[in-house]
Amino acid sequence: MSTVLVTGAAGFIGSHTTVDLVAAGYDVLGVDNFANSSPGAVERIHKLAEGTGAFEFVELDLRDRAGLTELLGRRPVDAVIHFAAKKAVGESVEFPFDYYDTNVGATLSLVAAMLDRGVNRLVFSSSCSIYGDATTVPIREDAPARPTNPYARTKWMCEQILADVCRRHSDWHVTSLRYFNPAGAHPSGLLGEDPRGIPNNVLPYIAQVAVGRRSELSIFGDDYPTPDGTGVRDYLHVVDLAEGHRLALAALDDAAGHRVINLGTGRGTSVRALLDAFSAACGRALPSRVAARRAGDVAELVADPALAAGLLGWTASRDVAAMCRDAWEFQRLNPNGYEPGPFDDRTHISTSTSTSTSTSQHATNGIGGSR
Ligand SMILES: NC(=O)c1ccc[n+]([C@@H]2O[C@H](COP(=O)([O-])OP(=O)(O)OC[C@H]3O[C@@H](n4cnc5c(N)ncnc54)[C@H](O)[C@@H]3O)[C@@H](O)[C@H]2O)c1
Repeated sequence: MSTVLVTGAAGFIGSHTTVDLVAAGYDVLGVDNFANSSPGAVERIHKLAEGTGAFEFVELDLRDRAGLTELLGRRPVDAVIHFAAKKAVGESVEFPFDYYDTNVGATLSLVAAMLDRGVNRLVFSSSCSIYGDATTVPIREDAPARPTNPYARTKWMCEQILADVCRRHSDWHVTSLRYFNPAGAHPSGLLGEDPRGIPNNVLPYIAQVAVGRRSELSIFGDDYPTPDGTGVRDYLHVVDLAEGHRLALAALDDAAGHRVINLGTGRGTSVRALLDAFSAACGRALPSRVAARRAGDVAELVADPALAAGLLGWTASRDVAAMCRDAWEFQRLNPNGYEPGPFDDRTHISTSTSTSTSTSQHATNGIGGSR
């Protein structure tokens, strides 16, 4: 049994990984500042971890280096999984400073606290966006890094920082996992993807169309050199991804220094095919319209996942139909995500604002029951 600090534990991937780790017998100390998540996710983790006593949560901004050092001194921590970051590509172009401040700043703060406290095992959330517009698909880890936006550059910089720390400290073991496109939800329907504001990722957007919170999906470009003209991505079930983190954690002792491993399925799905799969999962054809390509988007990103299979013994077992089924189940049961209250653009559903509970009931019955 060992204790793992999970940063960004209330977020989409962090919450699923925390639940997976607790189920596997780890103790988890979760931290988050709720910049893109809500305390409701922490309540759900407690519910799923009930009776184990293996999950503790502390609200903390990771850039608070003194607070983090104090936390790591409070109880022994054997390893860290570092999820906390901002992750929207478009937003990173508009607010680059915020992205460097949060993503690079939080990683520096974490490394400093780990050095202070003698913690030297780390799994880092990296991203396939580091590859940019890759010329060879499927993409292997030795493909050149060509980040095309500030978000991707923050991930690339963090990997470089971690590699340099490992060069200097020979007892450090770090694995950077470059994920492709995480999607889906916990099969219990209790955990899912519930970003603040308008979703930046396509699957939660489609889920919000399905539940009536958004009117239609905008498909950005249908003239890419792909079978149906829409962008192709390697969607990966978040529960498979959580398992990948657990295996990467367990394998940290195997290799000193910094190593990079892709997590993806090796299978590409177009936006149109994803929309069709979600329509099948929720039982109605979901509306969409074609819009102009977005700057910085690429035609196709698909992983070569062979290294993860070889080094971690990990392969993704869940398909796109399972991702859509589970994401729909979470959205259907939680039309407002983790927050009680009216939908963003369906406030007329609420007939009372006197208590959040009554508002939530109206919203849930009005929408959830009708689909
Ligand atoms: N979801 C994806 O498509 C994807 C793809 C590749 C890589 N990643 C990486 O995976 C990680 C997790 O992504 P996610 O999809 O779960 O995102 P998420 O936004 O749901 O989770 C990130 C969590 O970090 C928290 N956080 C942000 N800044 C913080 C700070 N300064 N201090 C403490 N907590 C902070 C947020 O509140 C949030 O709960 C991120 O590092 C992201 O860049 C995500």
